[in-house]
Amino acid sequence: MNVSDTEIVNSILMEDGMQPVNEPNQAEVIFINTCSIRENAEERVWNRLKEFKALKKEKEGDLTVGVLGCMAERIRDKIMEKEKLVDLVVGPDAYRDLPKLLADVDDGRKAVNVLLSLEETYADVKPVRTNDNGVSAFVTIMRGCDNMCAFCVVPFTRGRERSRPAESILDELERLSDQGYREVTLLGQNVNSYNDGEHSFADLMYKASQVDPEMRVRFSSPHPKDFPEELLKIISEQPNLCNYIHIPAQSGNDEVLERMRRPYTRQQYLDLVDRMREIIPGVTLSTDIITGFCGETEEEHEDTLSLMARVKYDLAYMFAYSERGRTLAQRKYEDDVPEKVKKRRLSEIIEQQMNIQEELNKKEIGRRHLVLVEGPSKRSDEQLCGRTDTNKMVVFDREDYAKGEYVEVVITDCTSATLMGDPIKKSSIAEFEAEKITA
Ligand code: 5AD
Ligand code: SF4
Repeated sequence: MNVSDTEIVNSILMEDGMQPVNEPNQAEVIFINTCSIRENAEERVWNRLKEFKALKKEKEGDLTVGVLGCMAERIRDKIMEKEKLVDLVVGPDAYRDLPKLLADVDDGRKAVNVLLSLEETYADVKPVRTNDNGVSAFVTIMRGCDNMCAFCVVPFTRGRERSRPAESILDELERLSDQGYREVTLLGQNVNSYNDGEHSFADLMYKASQVDPEMRVRFSSPHPKDFPEELLKIISEQPNLCNYIHIPAQSGNDEVLERMRRPYTRQQYLDLVDRMREIIPGVTLSTDIITGFCGETEEEHEDTLSLMARVKYDLAYMFAYSERGRTLAQRKYEDDVPEKVKKRRLSEIIEQQMNIQEELNKKEIGRRHLVLVEGPSKRSDEQLCGRTDTNKMVVFDREDYAKGEYVEVVITDCTSATLMGDPIKKSSIAEFEAEKITA
């Protein structure tokens, strides 16, 4: 989401006549787009700001530093007065104000706008993607969140939920397709509740699938409490809607889920997973898990382990609970699981998850997948990497294939994180689909 926000900021600044540069020391203005989701995200920002302070000294003050995003509202006072690290603090709904705020700084004033909005979706801003691979793009479809999960700061930093009009989203997808993008990921904090007054999220996904049959569509993240069955059917019917769903569980224990204000039970979650697998055969799943939430007992932690063992996620994002200011958990519960215990539980779920991933990936050996090439692999220019429809990263020999192409690949080997394969031939979504049917 921050990547996507940065692309909106790029657009607003470039309209105002600014140009991106490659190195911090070439810049006259540096913005750091921040995240508040966990303490360690914020620590990294503070460290970067200290680096920029040194740079500012080197440049004898000829550098403006601004903080954008979620940390803006939370720490504007601290940032502006105590630390004197920044000139500009701008929250996620105030980016249109950037040119004016920069002018204020030029006039020698500190500039702040951290107001949240009920309407802002930046629908008319055309994001400028300076830093992606030209193959896959993020597209924000809604902003804010009304869910108020007890642990989460997002409703406070990003404000109320609002949906961007479908028409503007579909226009952007058209443009991306024309520019040669082959994959888009539709982004929102809670995409199931997308509603622009006319379209539900399922409507939007169907329309998105029709923009370009050779452009893959992914999305993140849905909430388990209100996953529409209609959407599962649409995903299973449309070949370019990817068979991969990120479905955050957070915990496998009913009492913890209740304390977290996650309005579903373990059983309801498992039933949803069963329905997903029934309606979309071969669908892969990933999740978010928080370990060591307030009051989490050893048994409750075991329930998370057993949920994860039962579902067998293809991928999981796992975090130790980090208390955030203003959240319900911070006001109401004690952050009483010792750091050491949180870390131990986190390593336990990570270890189990790595084993599950390796086991699942081994089953892929011998299977054929349609891989969308994203570019050279991390290790070698002689190899390419890209994802399967099911979101698994595959590495294979370059041969004559290129970025942005769909290549049919047979899987030959794996680790817990990556599949290795042999390329068979250049293909397309339509061709691969037709061959699947005849096979
Ligand atoms: N501590 C740890 N993890 C958190 N997340 C959100 N808030 C916190 C927190 N306070 C995790 C959740 C969410 C993901 C984006 O970040 O798992 O789904
Ligand atoms: Fe945070 Fe819950 Fe909203 Fe996700 S759904 S952004 S975890 S409050």
